[in-house]
Amino acid sequence: RHAHILGYPFAGGQGRQGPELSPGWLFEQPWIQPRDGLTLEMIDVSNPSSNITPDKSIVHGHRFGQKNWNNVLHSCQKLEEATESTLLKDHFPIVFGGDHSQGIGSINGLKNVYPDARVLWVDAHIDANTPLSTPSGNVHGCPVGYLSGLFPYVKKPVLSLKHLIYFGIRSWEPEEKQLVDDNQIPWFRSEDCLVERMDEIKASVEAHMFPDGVKVPYWISFDIDGVDYHEFQSTGTPESLGLTIKFMLKFLEVFLPESVGMDFTEVNFLMSQGEQTEKDKETIKFLLEYIIDKIHQQDFKYNHSNYP
Ligand code: ARG
Ligand code: MN
Ligand code: MN
Ligand code: MN
Repeated sequence: RHAHILGYPFAGGQGRQGPELSPGWLFEQPWIQPRDGLTLEMIDVSNPSSNITPDKSIVHGHRFGQKNWNNVLHSCQKLEEATESTLLKDHFPIVFGGDHSQGIGSINGLKNVYPDARVLWVDAHIDANTPLSTPSGNVHGCPVGYLSGLFPYVKKPVLSLKHLIYFGIRSWEPEEKQLVDDNQIPWFRSEDCLVERMDEIKASVEAHMFPDGVKVPYWISFDIDGVDYHEFQSTGTPESLGLTIKFMLKFLEVFLPESVGMDFTEVNFLMSQGEQTEKDKETIKFLLEYIIDKIHQQDFKYNHSNYP
């Protein structure tokens, strides 16, 4: 398969500077240059910065708590189109952000092509806040809420909560945890995410996602803060007690062949210093090269035109 990296230099879904710089950094690296099986595209977001005056948006006549909403939606619209057209070429989009508000765009694009695709959300956070529950106003804490129709003005949810599983979560608002519990969304805690237990994890993911045995593809929404802070620090809302890189590699090995695309979000090199930043840059290189290689080695499994 062919990997297509969509750089998404957008930071307006949270309050720090830095995530918007990561795709530019990536595209300059010699090891990522376009070649057989790999192409790169930068999404032109008109307002990448987190310093946009928070607009405390008024939408459909309601005043809500989320910030930069019009900017998020405007940029996500472009990402939705780019993700969709990548999938229609049967290329594998790796959407490299940017903050996790990008999930609104990428997963809408996914759902335009694969309406019943399942989502594996790897993150320290549940990211299912709504305009009413968000404590910070940061939309990167809300993409699951938006996609699953919990925003009061979203008429057509694109993601059923039955089609979602979490890995590595360890930080949430009470409303989010309630949602996970009420909807019986499975979540694997870091301490359960052991390489030796991967067969068991895969079996229980499949039992939940495909109760009738018919498989459809996954989308992996990977927030780097799902990884333990001691292994990776260049991210805006770090949490300890997270996943190991070792587990992530196993996870990617097992689930990439069953997936049609992924997000790779929340990389912020302004959050670390000196040698740690260099170490974290090496980690991103290692992970991305591993991902690209796995995609390249694989034949087509899901092809949009023969998709049921
Ligand atoms: N739950 C917190 C909030 O809503 C933090 C969300 C962090 N999300 C992320 N994608 N890093 O503000
Ligand atoms: Mn749409
Ligand atoms: Mn997170
Ligand atoms: Mn996230």
